[in-house]
Amino acid sequence: MTYTEMVSSEGIIRNQQKTLSMMEFGPDEKPIAIQLFGANPEVMRQAAQIAVEKYGPDVIDINFGCPVKKVVNKNGGAAVLKDMDLTRDIIEATVEGAAGIPVTIKMRTGWDDANPVYIQAGQIAQKAGAGAITLHARSRAGAFSGRADWSAIKNLKDSVDIAVIGNGDINTPEDARRMFDETGCDAVMIGRAAMKNPLIFKHINHYLNTGEKLPEPTTKDKIELALEHARLMAEYYGEERGIKMMRRYLGWYVTGFHNATILRPKLFQVNTLANIEAIFREHLLR
Ligand SMILES: Cc1cc2nc3c(=O)[nH]c(=O)nc-3n(C[C@H](O)[C@H](O)[C@H](O)COP(=O)(O)O)c2cc1C
Repeated sequence: MTYTEMVSSEGIIRNQQKTLSMMEFGPDEKPIAIQLFGANPEVMRQAAQIAVEKYGPDVIDINFGCPVKKVVNKNGGAAVLKDMDLTRDIIEATVEGAAGIPVTIKMRTGWDDANPVYIQAGQIAQKAGAGAITLHARSRAGAFSGRADWSAIKNLKDSVDIAVIGNGDINTPEDARRMFDETGCDAVMIGRAAMKNPLIFKHINHYLNTGEKLPEPTTKDKIELALEHARLMAEYYGEERGIKMMRRYLGWYVTGFHNATILRPKLFQVNTLANIEAIFREHLLR
């Protein structure tokens, strides 16, 4: 299952084209959740309704986890976790707007480590009609530092009846297995590891199903994948915009390459598909 990145509910109801385009997806991305963020229940209700009617996702997910200033300063993302009444109102309104399409939430453990609210928020979500909860086992203050505290995922799983999706620091198939074993969660979600290696889903599924690991992708495999990704970006967004957007993903793809620190600054300046191909060709010849 895939998720869109978070989409502004305010942008949706104002019919902003850039915002709306973030909800587009292809048939090969299904099942898919469109993730919304916002701090106003009525706006979230309308946005969910528009998202469902216009784009036909399988799930509407609500972001209660984003730590980014631009979002929390408007009381969206993880900031909502400071106000449990607002959390409930947002979920109830979104469930109403989604009109039968399942609504799920994604949250952190709380605003800061001193005030974990995930158990309370999870129970509120269940009562308000959410179908599942993803927990990124860090507080907003924890940003992306330290290790995610998987015991929080177990605590949440023990406290609600709806499905719990565990998230945070899964980098290998063994990590996924361990997350299931240690927390009893119903599913796992992968974030950053997919940016470095989009094949991780295939590798995790294979390992969970057979207990055996697929061979690690080679540098050449990763380059082929990065080039395919770049071609698709150029096709969808046009070469000029698509390749500019691709720069940051190229930075993730080369994680672990020898000379990654030399490659990255070059890849961050590419403008065309041919630029990318030339840089990788040179790298492979070294
Ligand atoms: C560049 C970047 C963008 C992200 N955007 C979103 C987002 O739009 N919505 C969301 O719920 N989480 C977002 N996240 C958080 C991830 O979904 C995930 O919760 C977090 O990275 C921890 O999981 P991981 O250790 O598997 O990466 C983002 C993370 C990164 C690094």
